[in-house]
Amino acid sequence: IESNAKELKQALRQYPNFPQEGILFEDFLPIFQNPQLFNKLVESFKLHLAEKFPNTKIDYIIGLESRGFLFGPALALALNVGFVPVRKAGKLPGECVKAVYMKEYGQDEFEMQKDAIKEGSNVVIVDDIIATGGSAAAAGELVEKVGANVIEYQFVLELDFLKGRDKLKAPVFTLLVDQKEALKN
Ligand code: PRP
Ligand code: MG
Repeated sequence: IESNAKELKQALRQYPNFPQEGILFEDFLPIFQNPQLFNKLVESFKLHLAEKFPNTKIDYIIGLESRGFLFGPALALALNVGFVPVRKAGKLPGECVKAVYMKEYGQDEFEMQKDAIKEGSNVVIVDDIIATGGSAAAAGELVEKVGANVIEYQFVLELDFLKGRDKLKAPVFTLLVDQKEALKN
């Protein structure tokens, strides 16, 4: 996992002043341009789960719209488990559970289909990045509302100085940690 992480970190591209002045944006999309790297990303998350939770059966990977959709389904397939999307409000048909969370400006809402996950199942929530932790915490609420258990949260990147993980009730694994240098100013 360590050597994979090193290689993956080298593939990130930095964009100064995106999406706003003063932000150094870490783009992880180059990882997906290279199938070897993409595979290493998925394998690292898979390996970590096998090491940390050897006796736990994972039932679903839950991916957060939008960037959690880039690798969540690939990880689910690698683990031979289901994939369930958490989407921004109003995009999913049928009965949904909802959770409101704070964004930088105002609030947003996440939804998940009520019957997507069996009660009592074990899930892992994945996303590209944890910043304030608001999105991930809301996804955790959705899982709670359908009576399932969050075994772990997994992220590619973490803005660790924002202490987003403190908002989360389940363990957190970040593949490429310590992004202190990711913000200028
Ligand atoms: C970004 C990022 C995470 C979230 C992290 O998504 O992809 O999902 O913010 O922020 P937080 O920890 O402070 O909640 P965004 O809502 O910008 O949408 P996108 O993935 O659709 O681009
Ligand atoms: Mg997102």
